[in-house]
Amino acid sequence: MIGAVRNAVGGDEALMSEVLATTRMDALGWKWSDAWAKQIIEQAIASGDAAKGEAIYRQARLQCVRCHAIGQGGGVIGPNLVSLGGSSTPEYILQSLIDPNAKLKEGFQTLSVLTDDGRVISGLQRARTDKQLQLVLADGTEQTLATDAIETIKNGRSLMPAGLVDVLNEQEIVDLTRFLLELGKTPKYTVDTSPRIRNWSILTHTPAAMQKLNRTSLDTAATDAPELIWAPLPSTVAGRLPIAELPTFQLFRDLPAIAFARFDIEVKQAGSVIIELSAPSDAVSLWLDGRPRKLPEPDEAIGLSVGRHRVVLGLKVRSVGPSLGCQIRTGHLGSAVLEWK
Ligand code: HEC
Repeated sequence: MIGAVRNAVGGDEALMSEVLATTRMDALGWKWSDAWAKQIIEQAIASGDAAKGEAIYRQARLQCVRCHAIGQGGGVIGPNLVSLGGSSTPEYILQSLIDPNAKLKEGFQTLSVLTDDGRVISGLQRARTDKQLQLVLADGTEQTLATDAIETIKNGRSLMPAGLVDVLNEQEIVDLTRFLLELGKTPKYTVDTSPRIRNWSILTHTPAAMQKLNRTSLDTAATDAPELIWAPLPSTVAGRLPIAELPTFQLFRDLPAIAFARFDIEVKQAGSVIIELSAPSDAVSLWLDGRPRKLPEPDEAIGLSVGRHRVVLGLKVRSVGPSLGCQIRTGHLGSAVLEWK
């Protein structure tokens, strides 16, 4: 509701509060007060559910993962939240959600630039010289402005949108806060150093992708076919890919529903690797560098040459289990030297 009003008034904050005041809907938008915050924090600590909170954090509509990483997985527009719970007070964390403009994290101060031709552009300063100002905008794109074309520069607002958590109810705020409180503080929500795949790409469900896969074969999922659109999806803090979050494809009536996930490995020095998947072998199909391949046996070493290698997985969503983990270990016979994200 609040979101709908926001869209309708086109981000005009003054008009927004007027609309809220006259329609008395302000009770639906979360507003910071010390008493309210104290109560939310007490609840978060006493009975908040961090697992539910993590699922809320990962909801596509909130876009937290698009801007924030926790360790290696996620976006880079906002600060990395890997050690948030260990390094920040509960009040600070909750206030960051409710009122992102209250305290801007160091290094994330934005600039609001008025250009000669009347445009207002806000973003993080990436680089600045006498001649040019380079900004990173909230959608992650970069924009370079000639200093000559700039009328004024002032400090801007947080790139994190205000009112983002207005769509959540109080219990959801409590659980989300509990999750953030535990980041880097409890073992369960501390990113470990195991060699896991933490940045996946997921095949988006579109009519064009559906049609393409239907008319060709599943092998098409391992190609660069332009009909297929892949979107980034980080693993959970525990390094798992929740299967329920994946778009599924029901290609033929008698085939099981399938989802596609992929990742790349960069091999710096040729050698062998072991790809370890936490799934029953009949629930997964695997393509390596575009070719179908039998699922590796436990401890089976796969030789890889120098360069980038792509692993595409087809996952039978009903038999693969609630989440998938994938570890890459170096093989014992002349181990490869690798990198992946
Ligand atoms: C459009 C990008 C964007 C989105 C979406 C976004 N954030 Fe942020 N977030 C930022 C930026 C930039 C900052 C740093 C500036 C500031 O302090 O507001 C930040 C700051 C934070 C902080 C304070 C971190 C610190 O170390 O000081 C927390 C906590 C946080 N965000 C949580 C979230 C959660 C939870 C969500 C989803 C509900 C979310 N963010 C969505 C960009 C985003």
